[in-house]
Amino acid sequence: MKLKILLTGKNGQLGRELISSLEPLGEVIALGHAQLDLTKPEQIRQTIRDLQPQLIVNAAAYTAVDQAESEEAIARAVNADAPGIMADEAKKIGAALIHYSTDYVFDGSKTTPYLENDITNPISAYGRTKLAGEQLIQDSGGSHLIFRIAWVYGREGKNFLRTILRLATQKEELRIVSDQIGAPTSSRDIALATAEVLSRVYAPEKNAPAISELSGIYHMTAGGQTNWYEFAKAILEGAAESHQCESHIGKRSGKPSKFLVRRSHQSEASHYSFCASDCNRRISDPRKTACLFRPLKSALDPCIRD
Ligand SMILES: NC(=O)c1ccc[n+]([C@@H]2O[C@H](COP(=O)([O-])OP(=O)(O)OC[C@H]3O[C@@H](n4cnc5c(N)ncnc54)[C@H](OP(=O)(O)O)[C@@H]3O)[C@@H](O)[C@H]2O)c1
Repeated sequence: MKLKILLTGKNGQLGRELISSLEPLGEVIALGHAQLDLTKPEQIRQTIRDLQPQLIVNAAAYTAVDQAESEEAIARAVNADAPGIMADEAKKIGAALIHYSTDYVFDGSKTTPYLENDITNPISAYGRTKLAGEQLIQDSGGSHLIFRIAWVYGREGKNFLRTILRLATQKEELRIVSDQIGAPTSSRDIALATAEVLSRVYAPEKNAPAISELSGIYHMTAGGQTNWYEFAKAILEGAAESHQCESHIGKRSGKPSKFLVRRSHQSEASHYSFCASDCNRRISDPRKTACLFRPLKSALDPCIRD
């Protein structure tokens, strides 16, 4: 079945990956902030009514976590009200909404991986607005899949991988916390997993449930878990192996890139941030598929090389 898909946030880290991964499913109408401003409810409604998509994939969000503390109203408009409107309009035309949420809906105090039905307790403005978005989508009663994702990195956009590679060319020493735990997940893998789930939902084998029956929240992260310090080390080791940033580092300090890995320090952070889910749950649940994510090194290396 060829679908008409409306994708928002086309210039974001995940949006860029989704454009190519969704293409095999049908016609992808990809809009950025300039074409569709999610702080404008009427524009959202009109766009959906004009385009009449069968599927809306919302990869747009207000993602400036710190800035959201002083701009909670704007963050709420984009992260909560807008997806609520999308869900409402989608329901009216019989479309489904795919939306991305975050581990920030939790307070990070759990000492084992969070599961979908764990109690939410956001401690930041960003987390509150993302949780409100989940709730408005669910309240709409329309077909939806909400994928909670975390620790996203990729070759493009603002993310930890790119920050570490940049800092490695500028600093003698990096101080990275080791007491926050999570599962780094590549934006490419999230986009591919989204497309894989959708291809199964829309081309179901006999007796497969419809998307309306699958509506709900799913944790979507890579398997395993690590901390930011270990993740930074893996990035720098990958960069050294692929010789991608060795030349910058060499030019700056006159020392080999291993210097930076060795001199990284651990420091204390105020709270834990567990977000890895059990690999056999998450998106595997509704369709009983195997884990769709690559191990960290296999996913990380291509991002470093490109
Ligand atoms: N990155 C992570 O680690 C992470 C973790 C958990 C969950 N998530 C979730 O994953 C989804 C994708 O995140 P991402 O990392 O791809 O974020 P991103 O790179 O910041 O992309 C978000 C996109 O949303 C657009 N946007 C912001 N305000 C808008 C508005 N008013 N109207 C229309 N578009 C607007 C941005 O466009 P402009 O830049 O032009 O404003 C940007 O292209 C989001 O729902 C996010 O909450 C991300």
